[in-house]
Amino acid sequence: MINNSPFDKAIVDSKISELRIPNVGKASIREIVALVNLVEEETGLKYIRMEMGVPGLPPSKIGVDAEIEALKKGVAAIYPMVDGIKPLKEEASKFIKNYLDIDVAPKGCIATVGSMQGTFSAFMAAGNIDKNRDTTLFIDPGFPVQKQQMMVLGLKYTTFDVFNFRGEKLRDKLEEILAKGTINSIIYSNPNNPAWICFNDKELKIIGELATKYDVIVMEDLAYFGMDFRNDLSKPGEAPFQPTVAKYTNNYILFISSSKIFSYAGQRCGLMAISDKLFVRDYPDLQERFKGTTFGDTITLRILYSVSSGTSHSAQWALAAMFKAANEGRFNFVEEVKEYGEKAKIMKDLFLKNGFNIVYEKDLDVKIADGFYFTISYPNMTGNQLVENLLYYGISAIALDNTGSYEEGIRACVSFVKREQFGELEERLKLFNENFGTK
Ligand SMILES: Cc1ncc(COP(=O)(O)O)c(C=O)c1O
Repeated sequence: MINNSPFDKAIVDSKISELRIPNVGKASIREIVALVNLVEEETGLKYIRMEMGVPGLPPSKIGVDAEIEALKKGVAAIYPMVDGIKPLKEEASKFIKNYLDIDVAPKGCIATVGSMQGTFSAFMAAGNIDKNRDTTLFIDPGFPVQKQQMMVLGLKYTTFDVFNFRGEKLRDKLEEILAKGTINSIIYSNPNNPAWICFNDKELKIIGELATKYDVIVMEDLAYFGMDFRNDLSKPGEAPFQPTVAKYTNNYILFISSSKIFSYAGQRCGLMAISDKLFVRDYPDLQERFKGTTFGDTITLRILYSVSSGTSHSAQWALAAMFKAANEGRFNFVEEVKEYGEKAKIMKDLFLKNGFNIVYEKDLDVKIADGFYFTISYPNMTGNQLVENLLYYGISAIALDNTGSYEEGIRACVSFVKREQFGELEERLKLFNENFGTK
């Protein structure tokens, strides 16, 4: 059936065995990246690459200029403070006020080596706050590497797919899990990687209220901050603001990544914001484990100090400058990334025209936004089969089961696909649908 696929099956298969990927449909993001690189090299043909969430836009000039200036001033020679340089902490606190309408003191705004280091450290701390509560709850689908972090840390987690638990249903589901008394923290991303669903304020209120009731820490991963393009979240100090659980509980940590919103992934500099109340909280078991004092100081003086002793000094100046410019209304970072939403709309249409369906289609009764990712399925094909079959048609993606989703389908990331490739994408999808369609 796939003899006329644009990519030679024998070559793709030989690369799969060379990389010793046991089941290509289940391959991780990095395995797909390696495989596609090899096939592209051998065939000279280009894939439509939808597997990895690389920014795909130039970095913010404000950040680059500030970083060059900082380097010229000699910061490379100087260790930064473990919890971040003062200007960054101050601008971050203002940024959170301006764009989330939340007050977090500069002390709780902590520089991290990407959000990756932020969640790693937070998981480690949360996993030790209470000997009787050893489990983190992932509201899935989610970002696969965070589960790898749990594995590396040797910590326990549990998960459920939120697909069937939107709105009020989320309350019952969360109560059912939290009432067991084993959960120390909850993590989710909003907007969601991979599904691009966005929790609304009612859902965030449910999460917040239950976090307070069961005394668990909510980790809100805002890697795609402001990128629900259905609302204009770009005006500092003006509603609407980025919705956040921080409105509804004091037990929160927010993660603001510069990778996507400022296209600054390469410099690995992000921000973790710990609520004022959580920062000063004493957890006796945590104190015993890390010989520290408060929750906040345990994260900075024990964990971050041990892991990297701070975050790149010059990159912190970049982040501080980008926050400052955004705070002062000189840098509309939301406008700069709207391109993702525009591309997503076109790409979704191409898939829908050729027999595919959107998996996570709605936020309750509202259609999901067009943004960095979307999820698609094809009739009578599992997500794993779809990943595998599309590889012969020059389209690469990851299966949703990698993300904790119970739905069959794949995640498509729009950032790396160039507009010039849309024609080719359409042709490949058309051929795919002719070969696999039931017509
Ligand atoms: C949901 C989510 N969290 C965190 C990250 C990583 O962020 P950073 O590059 O700041 O480490 C990503 C990157 O893809 C992501 O999608």
